[in-house]
Amino acid sequence: MRIDVITLFPEFIDSCAGIGVVGRAQERGLLEVKTCNPRDFATDNHRTVDARPFGGGPGMLMTIGPLRDALQNVRAAAVQPARVIYLSPQGTRLTQEKVVELAHQERLILLCGRYEGVDERVLENLVDEEISIGDYVLSGGELAAAVVIDAIGRLQDGALNDAQSAEQDSFSGGLLDCPHYTRPVSDDLGAVPEVLMSGDHAMIRRWRRKQALGRTWLRRPDLLARVELDAEARTLLEEFRHEHRAAKNQQGGVR
Ligand code: ADE
Repeated sequence: MRIDVITLFPEFIDSCAGIGVVGRAQERGLLEVKTCNPRDFATDNHRTVDARPFGGGPGMLMTIGPLRDALQNVRAAAVQPARVIYLSPQGTRLTQEKVVELAHQERLILLCGRYEGVDERVLENLVDEEISIGDYVLSGGELAAAVVIDAIGRLQDGALNDAQSAEQDSFSGGLLDCPHYTRPVSDDLGAVPEVLMSGDHAMIRRWRRKQALGRTWLRRPDLLARVELDAEARTLLEEFRHEHRAAKNQQGGVR
């Protein structure tokens, strides 16, 4: 997969995409992240890429010319057609489902805005889709692009060392992840649940599924409402609720 990022801060994207799982995916040839700076396509001596908005108002907008030329340049750099995504708080909220869909594309172009955004005509004519990473405003699209690249990169086949770990992710299957423990078995902070050391894989699977269901019920009931539960899941969730209530009663309702 190839991702081109159009950004006024290529060094930010280069450093994010060069480390960790995404960096390794690039080293393994599973993913290629390239940057392109619209400033390189400015036509004046000051390399201007922004201008005041018509009608007045605060801030500056990125102008059409350098963005159109940067896009043309990036498109010409590879043969496959690419979807162009603009990162913006006005976009559709990013979900794991969307990430999985994007991870299957051969090519993407991510366009990062700065200042107050970009001229609307760029969005109407040159952009296929707008994506938001959450209901808050960042000072530019680069952090959001880095989030998208990370989420997509780790899903490329062979990017994660343990193939199972993507399947176990929070949200894969629509639920939050179960808790995980490692050494030591016993500590001042508590003990590891015994079932995890039982070696009984069926019991461990059941316990993990129960915890994932219970956690989602406690923390994200909105997610749980969207998941279709089979008979086992309904039983496990009922067990969890029962155990949770019993534990709360024992604590006198105090955590
Ligand atoms: N650019 C600024 N804020 C953003 C957000 N919340 N999501 C995506 N891109 C952005």
